[in-house]
Amino acid sequence: MEKTVQLYEGKAKKVYATEDETLCIVSYKDDATAFNGLKKGTIVGKGIVNNRMSNLLMQLLEMKGVPTHFVKELSDRETLVKKVQIVPLEVIIRNVSAGSFAKRYGVEEGIVFDEPTIEFSYKNDDLGDPLLNSYHALALHLATKEEIETIKAMAFRVNEVLVEYFKALGIRLVDFKLEFGRLPDGKIVLADEISPDTCRLWDLATNEKLDKDRFRRDMGGVEDAYKEVFRRLMGE
Ligand code: TMP
Repeated sequence: MEKTVQLYEGKAKKVYATEDETLCIVSYKDDATAFNGLKKGTIVGKGIVNNRMSNLLMQLLEMKGVPTHFVKELSDRETLVKKVQIVPLEVIIRNVSAGSFAKRYGVEEGIVFDEPTIEFSYKNDDLGDPLLNSYHALALHLATKEEIETIKAMAFRVNEVLVEYFKALGIRLVDFKLEFGRLPDGKIVLADEISPDTCRLWDLATNEKLDKDRFRRDMGGVEDAYKEVFRRLMGE
C-alpha cells in the first residue's frame, strides 16, 4: 500500500491517505514536544521505538479481545491503520500517583492506588487539553453515552493487559493516555499510539524513569530510556 496525500501532521506523527479510502499510513517522527508544544526537541530513534512498540502492543491487545486500528507494520517508522474519526478525548488511566495527578492533589509521586483511576481530557490544543468529566463530554457532544461506556471498559481492559505484560518485563505501568476512534460503521477501536511518549514506565526494581518524563524534566538519558524499553519488549 502506497501513501498518497498527507492528511495531517501532528506533533509526533504524520498521517497519509492511501488508495484505499478506509486505510491510512501513519509515519512516526523523532520530534518531541511537551507542555502543549512549549518545549520542543528531538529524541533520536523515538519514531522507530514508538512505531514498533505501539504495533506490538496493539497486536497483543487484539489477541486479548480489544479492537484496534492496527492493520500492518510497513517499515520501522510506518504503519498501515484503519481510518478512524478520532473521538476528541484523551483517556488517562493511572495505577500510581505521578505527573498532573500528584501536582493537582498535592501528593507525592509513587503512591500505588487500590484501584486504577480514569480521567478524560478534551483533546483540544488551543485550550490546552482541559480535564473534563463524562457529563461535560456529553454536553459538548464529544461522544455518546454508549461510546463513553465502551471507551471506559476498553481502557480498563487495556490497563489489565498492559500492567501484566510490562510487569513480566520488569516495568511498572504507572499511567498512560489512550485515544479511541470510530470506524465508518460506528464501532469504537483503540487508535493513536502506546509508547514511552504516552505512558509512564518505571523500572520495577529501581523506579528509574523509562519514558518521556526524562525529556519533560530535562533528566538526560532520554534516548537510552526509549532504547531500554524497546530492548525489553523485543526480549533482548
Ligand atoms: P499527566 O500526569 O501529565 O496528566 O500525564 C498522564 C499520562 O498521559 C502520562 O503517562 C503521559 C500521558 N500524556 C500524553 O500522552 N499526552 C499528553 O499531552 C499529556 C499531558 C500526558
